[in-house]
Amino acid sequence: MFSLKNKKAVVTGGGSGIGRAIATILAKQDAEVHIIELGVAQAKDTLDEIKAAGKQAFSYACDVSDHNAVKAVFEQIGNINILVNNAGIAHIGKADTTDESDFDRVMRVNVKGIYNCLHAAIPQIRLAGGGVIINMASIAALVGLPDRFAYSTAKGAVKAMTMSVAKDYIGENIRCNSISPARVHTPFVDGFLQKNYPDNIPEMFDKLSKTQPIGRMARPEEIGALALYLCSDEAAFITGCDYPIDGGFTTLNN
Ligand SMILES: NC(=O)c1ccc[n+]([C@@H]2O[C@H](COP(=O)([O-])OP(=O)(O)OC[C@H]3O[C@@H](n4cnc5c(N)ncnc54)[C@H](O)[C@@H]3O)[C@@H](O)[C@H]2O)c1
Repeated sequence: MFSLKNKKAVVTGGGSGIGRAIATILAKQDAEVHIIELGVAQAKDTLDEIKAAGKQAFSYACDVSDHNAVKAVFEQIGNINILVNNAGIAHIGKADTTDESDFDRVMRVNVKGIYNCLHAAIPQIRLAGGGVIINMASIAALVGLPDRFAYSTAKGAVKAMTMSVAKDYIGENIRCNSISPARVHTPFVDGFLQKNYPDNIPEMFDKLSKTQPIGRMARPEEIGALALYLCSDEAAFITGCDYPIDGGFTTLNN
């Protein structure tokens, strides 16, 4: 079960956190993994880990928000079977405290970045005879979170894009689903705490952990395992769905 032998997978933002866990588990299951990353050093760390396990991986320095650069990278990679749109950035603010430049930046990376990759990858997936797309959404797409105006807007779009793509390509053997994690302990969370709560990191870490009814944050590997399932042929009947993986956040926080 869950073999990805002879599959070629692209993971965006595969140099860190959730993307790294996904790239690593897909490679472990024998997919040939291609990482699209802004951070060259992070991408190399993931490649080293995958290669040390005797598996195949490649990386490309690329900003997912750059339409032409993304197109060029996908042309270089060629036909693919799996696309994981994981790269994303965070932002804190309400509608009246979010600057136009910050709003645009979050939309550029978290929404246009996914459009860019879909636009470039779908023809390559079609040439491969079909495949699977996973988009990284968030619980911010499902419930109202405080101070996450731009981020929630973007993740809501990711969830809607997922349904649109699932509908448009269902006849071409392309499945598309999204994953909506609550807090996952990654450099994304550490950076958030460092930037916004530099004076009380341990207290805030504990507070953020307890917002999940299960009492902790997720581990990136737990998101990786769900992504592997959705990418595998075992999930062949699943398309157009969003998968919360949230320690009870969206259903038990009452
Ligand atoms: N960590 C969480 O609690 C959490 C919860 C829900 C959803 N998510 C989502 O999961 C995804 C991954 O989050 P993470 O916590 O692993 O983040 P992370 O910051 O640890 O890793 C994100 C990676 O994406 C790369 N990246 C950022 N912008 C890019 C761009 N423009 N082009 C190419 N690469 C780029 C970064 O270099 C980094 O390596 C994001 O979409 C995030 O919104 C995270």
